[in-house]
Amino acid sequence: MRKIKVRLGINSYDIYIGSGLLMQTGRQLKEYGFAGKLVIITNPIVKRLYGNALKQSLTREGFKVTVLQVPDGEEQKSLEVAGRLYNELTDFYSERTTPILALGGGVIGDLTGFVAATYLRGVPLIQIPTTLLAQVDSSIGGKVAVNHGRLKNKIGAFYQPRLVISDISTLRSLPTKEFIGGLAEVIKSAVIGDEELFAYLERNLDQIKSLDDRALETIVFRSAKIKAEVVEKDERDFGLRNILNYGHTVGHAIESVSDFKVQHGEAVAIGMLAAARISNKLGLLDKNELIRLKGIIARAGLPTEFPNLQLESLIQAIRHDKKILQGKVRFVLPKSIGNVFITDEASLSLVERVLVNWNGET
Ligand SMILES: NC(=O)c1ccc[n+]([C@@H]2O[C@H](COP(=O)([O-])OP(=O)(O)OC[C@H]3O[C@@H](n4cnc5c(N)ncnc54)[C@H](O)[C@@H]3O)[C@@H](O)[C@H]2O)c1
Repeated sequence: MRKIKVRLGINSYDIYIGSGLLMQTGRQLKEYGFAGKLVIITNPIVKRLYGNALKQSLTREGFKVTVLQVPDGEEQKSLEVAGRLYNELTDFYSERTTPILALGGGVIGDLTGFVAATYLRGVPLIQIPTTLLAQVDSSIGGKVAVNHGRLKNKIGAFYQPRLVISDISTLRSLPTKEFIGGLAEVIKSAVIGDEELFAYLERNLDQIKSLDDRALETIVFRSAKIKAEVVEKDERDFGLRNILNYGHTVGHAIESVSDFKVQHGEAVAIGMLAAARISNKLGLLDKNELIRLKGIIARAGLPTEFPNLQLESLIQAIRHDKKILQGKVRFVLPKSIGNVFITDEASLSLVERVLVNWNGET
């Protein structure tokens, strides 16, 4: 088991990463001073897989457990569903010290976090992420949110969890496509801040893809550590935290133009490669680094070919992105693997050139 301390003053918390942690959650929560009632929010898929194990571990230590469910899917991240959960909580919830546990992927984590941040003006939140994306990214850093109309993730708060418990053995049941999508975020973490993690991925991708415990623990630990370090320096997203959006400028445009048919991780993979090519064209990133990045993306099972989308619409989507300032787009660009910077200097015409010439490039 590995532990990361996220240092945020009174909002500090620990992240535990290891195999079989679900079974120890009851004991762990007791050690952190929790007692009495608690509420788990999950979805039917995750409940069927892990609901009983978690519940048993909690009841064994004397906790009184209520499980609330929302259906699976991104559309559940809504004010309506949050409202329904407030009503259900009112039937079961006891005191403001009663923790709410988010058991599931990023959707459950964001929704439950939003509910925990707002119910009774804030109650203890414990994240128990069960997807690779949630373990390396969304459960850490306190961004909790729901979607509303055209606003994705824009109704929310900064609300740090009291504890994050990442049981890597839950990744075994993850559909392969979800796992590979999560690998895009691991690659992202390596490129923005951990050259050694990148080299580890290059050496161990086969073990990672065959879900070897030690390899999974290593990649989740190192990626979570990068996220924690960035959040520690910029909890409220005033600047540095933007580097976590590496690959997301073009990635978001691809997701939106494809009507979300291109999965998030796949879109981010193309976005990371696009940003790296832009950086290379600006003379900032060495060709060899670009080749390494493309290699690891391909070996992970993520796309390197551009999806069949109308270029015009993509440029339009990037143009409409709020990060655009006077014909220049805000980009997170790698200078080398493990080192990125934020710039407003990438012109739309350069972005367009990189996308138009996609197939002829490294
Ligand atoms: N808060 C943040 O900082 C942050 C960062 C990145 C992404 N997000 C959000 O995260 C969400 C995406 O999260 P996600 O990729 O985890 O998707 P998800 O929560 O929809 O989970 C993906 C699928 O896997 C299923 N699942 C979860 N755990 C499983 C397991 N162990 N075995 C089998 N199936 C399992 C889910 O039921 C779902 O069908 C988006 O809403 C995104 O906006 C938030």
